[in-house]
Amino acid sequence: YRIDKGNHRHFMGKEIHEQPEVVGRTLSHYVDLAEGRVVLPEALPFDFGKLNRLYITACGTAYYAGLVARYWFEQIARLPVEIDVASEARYREAPLERDGLTLVISQSGETADTLASLRYAKSQGQHTLCVVNVPTSTIARESSVVMPTLAGPEIGVASTKAFACQLTVLLCLAIAAGRARGTLTAERERALIDALITVPGLMAEALKQEGEIEGLAREVARARDVLYLGRGTSYPMALEGALKLKEISYIHAEGYAAGELKHGPIALIDESVPVIVIAPHDGVFEKTVSNMQEVAARGGRIILIGDAKGAAEHGLDTLATLTMPDLDATVAPLVYALPIQLIAYHTAVFMGKDVDQPRNLAKSVTVE
Ligand code: AGP
Repeated sequence: YRIDKGNHRHFMGKEIHEQPEVVGRTLSHYVDLAEGRVVLPEALPFDFGKLNRLYITACGTAYYAGLVARYWFEQIARLPVEIDVASEARYREAPLERDGLTLVISQSGETADTLASLRYAKSQGQHTLCVVNVPTSTIARESSVVMPTLAGPEIGVASTKAFACQLTVLLCLAIAAGRARGTLTAERERALIDALITVPGLMAEALKQEGEIEGLAREVARARDVLYLGRGTSYPMALEGALKLKEISYIHAEGYAAGELKHGPIALIDESVPVIVIAPHDGVFEKTVSNMQEVAARGGRIILIGDAKGAAEHGLDTLATLTMPDLDATVAPLVYALPIQLIAYHTAVFMGKDVDQPRNLAKSVTVE
């Protein structure tokens, strides 16, 4: 790897643009293309088919990757998932079953709370599996199984390409779990693999929206507060969008499950609050549309990240629509991550912030 910015102004910009390539590389490590099957790079010392529950823990963006994966493990493998941020998981003294499985996710592999949660899981007799970007890290060394993300070194403090690679590995694991648990038909597995294989190309498509996002960023930069909404796997993506924006632009942002809007945050809506709605045309799209109507009725300015099908069907009145390519909704988080990252990136650049090294943040949080 060349550790330089190439033609980019910032590492973060470079890392956003590397995603089609690094996700492609990660995929080729987990998918046998000729067979159209997930083949894990390491044998597992446990049987997914025998697990009663999967525990997931991580911090920050890696935690949001885990939240997305909860939907995948539950829907694809019918495996119940319990997930918590590592700074809570390590102190909760949760009873964990012997021979169960704890999955930890970390870019650096050195995050203190994640490492402590891993050690706690081991002390309870759990198998441990890590999805990690630095294979020589402490978390990798101390886990019984290591599933690497092949994102290459990530320098920008805001995690981008590591997140996309985490999602890639987690979806492959959910598919492997689905096969082991007999919850996935050969046909659905094939369709999921086909969808996964198209992701690098779809990401390249999504990057073509950058010009439009740059213009939009000037609007976002004027806001004091920004709301992100999504349902299903788009809900953790809303959380990730809000985190990305606050960490590098210092604009207050909140991510909400779209259905929670009416339970409080709708009180915030007026024309000064951009509302970024993440809504691929999936099984819960119609529900999100009614939330968007509620926002529009209160003068809220909607930035929709969706696909042509969704936008056309509803003729929604939005400030802007970022049109993502058509895709199998299961892989939407992988592709929708890109406009989310680009909004934060261009907003922060426009505001003249130090996007690669935002104030008060470290790349690797090795203290509690
Ligand atoms: C994300 O952009 C962050 N800067 C931060 O939330 C990060 O994801 C978190 O600290 C976890 O780090 P890790 O993946 O190295 O464990």
